[in-house]
Amino acid sequence: MIEKEAMYKLTYGLFVLTSTDGEKQNGCIVNTVSMLTDNPKRITVFVNKANYTEELIRKTGVFNASVLTESVPFEVFKKFGFCSGRDTDKFAGESYPKTENGLYYIPEHTNAVLSGKVIDAHDYGTHTLFVAEVTEAKTLSSETSVTYEYYQSNIKPKPQAQTAEETQKSGGKWVCKICGYVHEGEELPEDFICPWCKHPASDFEKIG
Ligand SMILES: Cc1cc2nc3c(=O)[nH]c(=O)nc-3n(C[C@H](O)[C@H](O)[C@H](O)COP(=O)(O)O)c2cc1C
Repeated sequence: MIEKEAMYKLTYGLFVLTSTDGEKQNGCIVNTVSMLTDNPKRITVFVNKANYTEELIRKTGVFNASVLTESVPFEVFKKFGFCSGRDTDKFAGESYPKTENGLYYIPEHTNAVLSGKVIDAHDYGTHTLFVAEVTEAKTLSSETSVTYEYYQSNIKPKPQAQTAEETQKSGGKWVCKICGYVHEGEELPEDFICPWCKHPASDFEKIG
């Protein structure tokens, strides 16, 4: 038997993984950066092949992992975790600092940045496992690293509790199980797409 809840007991950090296509820089949220060996310093990261960032890392062999801290606002997840660099320029009009490899890193709500140079990649169906040499590692603050559990309990918006009277007035509410976005209305159209995480109507449940 595989209990889904048991899998949630594993501890994960959260990171903005940045890379580039040579011109445009891009980044996405991951919870899968780990240390592999200490000497030499090597790290691993698993990235979904549907992510534009996976394609960029596979092509260029370089990435930065900015380690997010508990002060990180939900807006950072909206920007890097719920939309793809294939459809949007996530860094448009903003200036971010760079590491020695020329890639952006996130200077706020982070406590470190690690630069990786890919030395091996393995195809695991939905995901690619990248093994990388650490070419630069910099401490950015003394804030506490955020965990995936902390994000779920304290950062991801929760659907608001509603009285029966309020429910009648608003005509009902639907919450996105992926990101917590709440849609108000008695009916949820079949072709509804979550404006935050772009998941379909099937990922919503009625809460009022
Ligand atoms: C809390 C959170 C954790 C995530 N963890 C991962 C992860 O470990 N691996 C992954 O491939 N995507 C993960 N994602 C999803 C990507 O960040 C998301 O699909 C992103 O929009 C991809 O952007 P891109 O196409 O520009 O690379 C996570 C998203 C969130 C909000």
